[in-house]
Amino acid sequence: MASRLKLSTLPTALEACPALGAAIGAPGLLTKRDDLAGAEYGGNKVRKLEYLLGDALERGCDAVVTFGAAGSNHALATAIYARQVGLTCFAVLTDQVQTPWVANTLRWHGLLGTRLLYGTGFAETRLAAERLRASHPSGPQRLYEIAWGGSSPLGSLGFVDAATELATQLAAAGLTAPVRVYLACGTMGSVAGLLVGLGRAGVAATVVSVKVVPQNVVDASAVLQLTRETERLLPAVTAGKQQRATLEFRPEFAGEGYALPTPEAREALALARDLAGFRLDTTYSGKALACLISDARTGRLEGHTPVFWQTWNSRPYPAELTEVDQTILPAEFQKYFR
Ligand SMILES: Cc1ncc(COP(=O)(O)O)c(C=O)c1O
Repeated sequence: MASRLKLSTLPTALEACPALGAAIGAPGLLTKRDDLAGAEYGGNKVRKLEYLLGDALERGCDAVVTFGAAGSNHALATAIYARQVGLTCFAVLTDQVQTPWVANTLRWHGLLGTRLLYGTGFAETRLAAERLRASHPSGPQRLYEIAWGGSSPLGSLGFVDAATELATQLAAAGLTAPVRVYLACGTMGSVAGLLVGLGRAGVAATVVSVKVVPQNVVDASAVLQLTRETERLLPAVTAGKQQRATLEFRPEFAGEGYALPTPEAREALALARDLAGFRLDTTYSGKALACLISDARTGRLEGHTPVFWQTWNSRPYPAELTEVDQTILPAEFQKYFR
């Protein structure tokens, strides 16, 4: 297995949220603070990148190429951590709806010197990667490809470790009730890794996968396929431990589409801000909390320990972003600054 790099600031805290829990009817609500998973940039991508960038270095690569929407947190995290370990980062980005975060994400790419390319859709992003590979100055094999969202079986191992981390924290707190873990599901690697890891740790858990993307390739069977592929990278399960983590796939909080806010996500953002003091986004984390809130209100959390996984970075954006000349970015991205 590839060596795991140390990029993160793990373990992340598992925190009680009494005021928010009381307001929504989820006593005992906990949040897993992956928003602080890295010193420079947190969120759920750092864990995956420890494996992926470790693999890239082990294979002697000098550059990585990855993919995402224009405001992709994954593409930004990859660019930040690739730079930290001395790898050039290419990111092939597609259009998305405007959000309050896209412009600063692109400016941060400008600051980092990410080589941004534009693709109209999945097929074109593939062609762009192939063209990059064919013309890579040090040879095609030295350009390492990282899947959308970092969600390959190798990347998902980061969330297998996250599950072990959570299991240790629950045990230390003496929490033995079945757990319901809520998180946004985009490219599925985080959910898949948690399912594998919680099962291997013997934790009675349901992973509630809150779908935030319109693609019909993202569904329960695709998540389970990724769990099987991730399992294959791991040693056989220790005798006596059971695989008990259950997947609950929830498409109904996605709203009209990727990055389009829903009233439920807006309410979740306001409650999280006012009662727990943390910031969420409307693309991913707000939709996941909206699902948890709805389940709390309908009594679905009774007898469970609810855990909200904060997957969105909360580290501040660099002050120098105001000085970035955005006109250096490709023409196709200029519309996000208007
Ligand atoms: C903030 C945030 N939360 C959740 C997710 C979803 O994680 P995954 O792509 O592993 O399903 C992403 C990834 O795109 C993300 O950026």
